[in-house]
Amino acid sequence: MSTPHDGPAEPLTARRGSPLAGRARVPGDKSISHRSMIFGLLSVGETRVIGLLEGDDVLRTAAACRALGADIERLGDGEWRVRGVGIGGLAAPAGVLDFGNAGTGSRLMMGVVGGHGITATFDGDASLRKRPMRRILDPLTEMGAEVVSEAPGGRCPIVLRGAQDPIPITYRTPVASAQIKSAILLAGLNAPGVTTVIESEASRDHTEKMLAYFGAQVEVTPEGGGRRIALTGRPELRPAPVVVPADPSSAAFPMVAALIVPGSDVVLEGVMLNPLRTGLITTLIEMGGSIEVLDRRIEGGEEVGDLRVRHSALKGVDVPAGRAPSMIDEYPVLAVAASFATGETRMNGLHELRVKESDRLQAVADGLAASGVEHAILGDDLVVQGGKGRVAGGGPAVATHLDHRIAMSFLVMGLATEKPVTVDDGRMILTSFPDFVPLMGRLGASVG
Ligand code: S3P
Repeated sequence: MSTPHDGPAEPLTARRGSPLAGRARVPGDKSISHRSMIFGLLSVGETRVIGLLEGDDVLRTAAACRALGADIERLGDGEWRVRGVGIGGLAAPAGVLDFGNAGTGSRLMMGVVGGHGITATFDGDASLRKRPMRRILDPLTEMGAEVVSEAPGGRCPIVLRGAQDPIPITYRTPVASAQIKSAILLAGLNAPGVTTVIESEASRDHTEKMLAYFGAQVEVTPEGGGRRIALTGRPELRPAPVVVPADPSSAAFPMVAALIVPGSDVVLEGVMLNPLRTGLITTLIEMGGSIEVLDRRIEGGEEVGDLRVRHSALKGVDVPAGRAPSMIDEYPVLAVAASFATGETRMNGLHELRVKESDRLQAVADGLAASGVEHAILGDDLVVQGGKGRVAGGGPAVATHLDHRIAMSFLVMGLATEKPVTVDDGRMILTSFPDFVPLMGRLGASVG
């Protein structure tokens, strides 16, 4: 497998040019792509996937599913076949499960292993090795799994011995995290009884939706401002075709680019509009962004639409902390949009950004500083002073810290700054948006 970790860093530069125009479809949703492999593994029979994101993160999850016994084959562009072994039928992996840069893949697969009587070693790149895994290991331990070894602070590499007969638990997640919720539910699939997760704010619900779609009994009820998800264990999952919609977290980059590059008018096709993923669109519209949803329809069980995005004079807004779960991956590119707005944008409650592929709060602040954008981190909040359409750019290369979204966000910024913006390494873009550079190029952007 060729991976973004091969070879030396590859700096990339974006420069101001002509308006962006045309139509594009960004790759399949990363969350659903990971889960399509995992649900394929846990079903007996053949699951067909169309529109899979063929980024490194998902390919690592596919490799891990293979190591646990699935037969996985690529049939064509984005078209994959998974022959699964079913709940309870997993094989012990022969080698280390190396998830590269992927927090989602590693954490969801810890849930899968944690609910089965097998032992596996989880590892990844320097970024993944810094990310906290106790949030996953703690509930799995309550379910009967055992952490055989871990790096200090509950970090990878981690050797996890799963529970042969996991205990169905009721667990209140300490932060609104779909990864924590999903790991517990995936472990609960092999538990004899009802596993319940309570979240104080709703996080993305792809796992619950796909559990139901593959035939599990799962009840979702509102509780407080959040949700209670109750899964009945040991169902027989039936293979089901998965159509992966375009990833709103990837669409975010050409979307913001079109808003900040004068004269732009682009259409982004088939973007997933699951309400737990559309916080950025809500915020950009509040800022005065011209984003129109054309042809709203259902694809693969999700609402999707074609988004027409036109250059707009943006104004600063206050983004409530409660919106964070629905736009958690989009703050870096929102900070870029805010840099071009008139007035101040305050993004509240960003503590979870500290534990993403990088410390994204600091990485964003440093990137803004490099381009001369006035900003401040106040506790868990980020405040950006907009430059009324004018941002200098031209600073030192932005440090991406192995974080794909930092790389893409600041390349988007460079399409509208007075001087070009360089990021120190574009390799990680392969994890989630392999054709980012050519796709942006087809819309008229100068990135290279
Ligand atoms: C994801 C959940 C989010 C998100 C990540 C994908 C998922 O993480 O940041 O990119 O697919 O479950 P948290 O749920 O931990 O916030």
